[in-house]
Amino acid sequence: MSASLQFLKAAIKEPLQISTLFQTAPATVNRLLSPLKTDNHCSVLELGVGAGAVTKRAHKVMKSKDKYLGFEINTDLFNYVTGEYKDFQFVCASAESISDYTKNRKFDLIVSTLPWSLFDDYMRKNILNEISKHLEKGGYFKTYMVCNALITRSGKLFRQQLEERFEVTSRWVFLNAPPAKVFECRAKVGKIH
Ligand SMILES: C[S@@+](CC[C@H](N)C(=O)[O-])C[C@H]1O[C@@H](n2cnc3c(N)ncnc32)[C@H](O)[C@@H]1O
Repeated sequence: MSASLQFLKAAIKEPLQISTLFQTAPATVNRLLSPLKTDNHCSVLELGVGAGAVTKRAHKVMKSKDKYLGFEINTDLFNYVTGEYKDFQFVCASAESISDYTKNRKFDLIVSTLPWSLFDDYMRKNILNEISKHLEKGGYFKTYMVCNALITRSGKLFRQQLEERFEVTSRWVFLNAPPAKVFECRAKVGKIH
């Protein structure tokens, strides 16, 4: 079964977990993985792998496949990507539990397509704390939110929570359905995790 069909099937079965019927568009994937253009040896932690819209590109570009780790909570999607990308490592668990699986491992690029606006405040904080903890010094955390989620209360709170923890720059990607804002986050100078 194709990745998009696999994704659609999972999204119909678990709409509150997946949040959308469409995979992330190539233009957005491009922005999320932009640090790999200058360093294809960097380590990558992906949160919310889905059927592999981001993973596929990372797999094509990354030179050291053992430097990739992906978290996906949905068992069907986890099984699918495990079969597709055999030399990548995946964990079937919530992104809240990164430390349980990686101890003190740090990553140059953490990329998330998690449905932030569906999480409660407490869960968002927990995941963002985990991300801060596992981000390599000078590393990038990249994520995005679609326009309709950005205007919700949790979308606005998410933006605030990002800015409390990181230096944030953002950019619209209009070739995404719906259009999306990609956030590029870096650790604040002097903030040590
Ligand atoms: C919007 S989809 C993105 C899927 C894919 N990465 C893409 O870009 O098309 C969000 C994904 O995050 C997963 N997810 C939701 N909550 C999660 C959590 N707490 N931890 C890990 N994955 C989660 C969902 O199962 C779904 O596959």
